[in-house]
Amino acid sequence: MKFPILLILFFISAFSATAAKPVKIYNELYRPQFHFSPEINWQNDPNGLVFYKGEYHLFYQYNPFGNEWGYMHWGHAISTDLVHWEQLPIALFPDNDSKDKEVCTEFSGSGLVDENNVTGLQKGDEKTILLFYTSQKCGQRLAYSNDKGRTWTKYEKNPIIAFNETDDARDPKVIWHEANKQFVMVLYRKPDNDEKQKGISFYTSKNLIDWEYKSHLPGFFECPDLVELPVNRRADDKKWVLFNGDGSYLIGTFNGEKFVTESPKLPGDLGLNYYATQTWSNIPEADGRTIQIAWMKGGEYPKMPFNGQMTFPCVLSLKKFTDGIRLIRKPVKEIELLHGKGEVWENKNLIPGINKNLTHKVDNDCMHIIGSFKIKTVDTFGFVVRLDKKNNGTEIMYNVKSKTLTCLGNSVIVEPIDGTLKLEILLDRSSIEIFANDGSAVMSSCFIPNENANGIYLFNTGGELLVEKLEIYPMKSIWQIEK
Ligand code: FRU
Repeated sequence: MKFPILLILFFISAFSATAAKPVKIYNELYRPQFHFSPEINWQNDPNGLVFYKGEYHLFYQYNPFGNEWGYMHWGHAISTDLVHWEQLPIALFPDNDSKDKEVCTEFSGSGLVDENNVTGLQKGDEKTILLFYTSQKCGQRLAYSNDKGRTWTKYEKNPIIAFNETDDARDPKVIWHEANKQFVMVLYRKPDNDEKQKGISFYTSKNLIDWEYKSHLPGFFECPDLVELPVNRRADDKKWVLFNGDGSYLIGTFNGEKFVTESPKLPGDLGLNYYATQTWSNIPEADGRTIQIAWMKGGEYPKMPFNGQMTFPCVLSLKKFTDGIRLIRKPVKEIELLHGKGEVWENKNLIPGINKNLTHKVDNDCMHIIGSFKIKTVDTFGFVVRLDKKNNGTEIMYNVKSKTLTCLGNSVIVEPIDGTLKLEILLDRSSIEIFANDGSAVMSSCFIPNENANGIYLFNTGGELLVEKLEIYPMKSIWQIEK
């Protein structure tokens, strides 16, 4: 009898030893290495993006109880360089101690520094950071911090815009409107519960607490944002851009109360997973950038302890083309902080069947690829990433005749410029972002790569391709990973 008991004890102790082992957090199979993802559990929209005293705050829709949507809280992370994130404790908990999956939970919203203490909420030397959010079915609300965003207090006279059963209002984004010297809130609403009226309402305020309704623009759904951007970098030629939840946008004028459209609705991203975009508030004038991030909605992370990732932060600008003004989106320059020792190729003429794969020595699952390709007689060209020994992987392909760039089943038309196509690709463990022709067309997608497949193949079919320049950098992880 003694022997089986010992055996059982042995198994119990062996099992508990395994159970006690720390998890290899931030180094999991599908864990993004340079895109933000929460340590554990479900994440959706970026919220409350605000810069204060050298810190970029990133809040996000967060369910602390599991890997699926519900019980929304605001998770919180900060960064001093937009690429390395430090996870902070949860910032906002449901209102009225709600334990419901939806009612009075913390839906999306925005952040702003109260520079001139118009709310009167400042206590000491630190300026007040404000978070405007939707308390689902409990109105638009305000929370604030007097200690650089480390602790949060709910405004005692909440809600600042009362709940209205018929309009499903949510996702307030607040900005400063310099010309009118007042604040503007854009808020998604469905006035009178009318599907055709789904759109953005504009409100104004002098003190960030009392808000006055001004106008409504139908044709939008969730997570609005409004930014003013120079056209072709000219400070004397600016346009307003109004964003929809899916990243699509209108270009127009805005007098502080009403948006007047000057463009058709244009797509913001042509990939599979780009949603709930938001730009950072209070970026210092000396920096001057408009920086946007989005939730990679619909991404899948089988068996992972987390469920969600953000796109890489990008700078927005406007550029004039023959068919009108268009949004340009490019990764922030801080991406270079993550470059490992890269490889560069210049003026390589590739002839199908003659050259072997130019990039055959590259072996990595996370890369920053920057290439400029002269289209000579080639039919199709591109990359196969996460390539395995049998030459299987995920394809990014340009078709010269149809002028289409295709990845993971989605396509976008891109015109070469003077016979050259530029491609910038951010490859992470479970996402691919492709910026064509300096950010004039972008595809952000999640994918599930081949396991143990870190090769990359630069292919061309039909004819010659001149690689004017190609740079490939292995990307360092933004996390302190446990190997
Ligand atoms: C967009 C959205 C928002 C809402 C939040 C709830 O993804 O539906 O409209 O505030 O997510 O999590």
